Amino acid sequence: MQRIPVAGPWITQKEIDYVTDAVANAWYANANMYHERFENAFAAYIGVKYAMALPSCTSAIHLSLLTLGIGEGDEVIVPDCTWIASAAPISYVGATPVFADIDPKTWCISAESLEECITPRTKAVIPVDLYGSMPDMDAIRHLARKHNIVIIEDAAEAMGSKYKGKCAGSFGETGVFSFHGSKTLTTGEGGMLLTDRGDLYQRAAVLRDHGRQPGSVMFWNSEVAYKYKMSSMQAALGLAQLERIDELLERKRQQFEWYKHELAQVEGITLNAEPDGMRNTFWMVTVVLDPKLHINKTELMQRLAKYNIDTRPFFHPLSSLPAYEDLPQTQAARQRNKIAYQISPYAVNLPSALAVTEEQIRYVSDILKTEVS
Ligand SMILES: Cc1ncc(COP(=O)(O)O)c(C=O)c1O
Repeated sequence: MQRIPVAGPWITQKEIDYVTDAVANAWYANANMYHERFENAFAAYIGVKYAMALPSCTSAIHLSLLTLGIGEGDEVIVPDCTWIASAAPISYVGATPVFADIDPKTWCISAESLEECITPRTKAVIPVDLYGSMPDMDAIRHLARKHNIVIIEDAAEAMGSKYKGKCAGSFGETGVFSFHGSKTLTTGEGGMLLTDRGDLYQRAAVLRDHGRQPGSVMFWNSEVAYKYKMSSMQAALGLAQLERIDELLERKRQQFEWYKHELAQVEGITLNAEPDGMRNTFWMVTVVLDPKLHINKTELMQRLAKYNIDTRPFFHPLSSLPAYEDLPQTQAARQRNKIAYQISPYAVNLPSALAVTEEQIRYVSDILKTEVS
C-alpha cells in the first residue's frame, strides 16, 4: 500500500503547458512576462496594490523587516508556535524575536499575550495564519495602532483564508506568502510580498536586486543588498495554480469536511477551528489530542506511520528549540506561553495533500479512532 501523503500539490495539464511555454519563450526581453501576470493576478486576488514574486516567503519576511527599517535594538513579536521561518529573518536584521503565546482555539497569536509582550523597543508584530487559521485581527490591529507598531502578516499557510471577508495577507503593512511544494498553491519553492504602500514596494524592488533601481541595465549599484528573484518557470507555475485557485481551495475545504464528518464527535480529539467571521482554508488538517489520553505527538506519529500514514508534528514552541536556547527572552516565553506548551506536545498534522481521497481520509480516521479509544 502506498503511503498517504501529508502534503503535496495538484498539478494539471494547465500547469505543464504554462511552464513549458515559459521554458521555451520567457527569456531575455520576455523574461518577466509570467512574473507580471502572476503578480498582477495575485495582488488582485488578495485585494492589495502591489505584489512582488520572490524565491521564498523567508525572503519576503526579510525584505519586509528591511523596508520597514527594523534592525539592531528593536524587538519583533511572533507567536511561539510557527515554522522558524516566521522568526529567523528577525535575527537576520539584528533585531530580537519575542515569542507570544497562542490562542487555544485558532492556534494563532493571542492578542492578550501580544499586549503583554509589548515594550518600548517593540517595532513590529508578525501574526501567523497557522495552518490556514487566522488570529483575532481586529484586536491585533487595535493593539498595533495603540502602541505604534507595524504588522507583517505571515500568511504563508493561508492562501484564500478570510477574516470578516478580507483576504489573509492583506492585514499588515506587508503580507507574505509561501509557495513551497507543500503549500496549497505551489511554485516548488517561492514566495510573494504584498503591500499597499508604494514606498515599501519601491524600496523592496531595490533591495531584492543587489541595490540597483528596477530596470537599470548599467550595473550601477547604489548599495550592497540581496538577490531575491523568482524564475520565469516558477512564475508560470504560480499563475496556472492561481487561475485554478477556486478548485484548489474547494478541495482543501472538502477534505476538512470529510475529516470532520469522521472525527468531530470523537472524544479527546479537537480539529482546526473556524470561528464566526473567519474562513479557514485548512492548509493542514490537524488533531489536538486530550493530554488525558497520554499519547504525545511523537507516539501518535509513530503509530500512524505503521499504517503507511504520513503526518507532521505540530510546530514545537520556538522558545523550546536549541536555536533559541541562548536568547534572553526564551526563559520568560517558556514560563508565559502556557497554551503553546499545552497544545504543541499533543498535536499532529494529518494527511492533507491535495491528492488525498475521501476513502483515504476514512481509512486514516478509522485508524486514528482505534488508536485513541
Ligand atoms: C508560517 C510560515 N512562515 C514562513 C514560511 C517560509 O516559507 P518559505 O519556505 O517559502 O521561505 C513557511 C513555510 O513553510 C511557513 O509555514
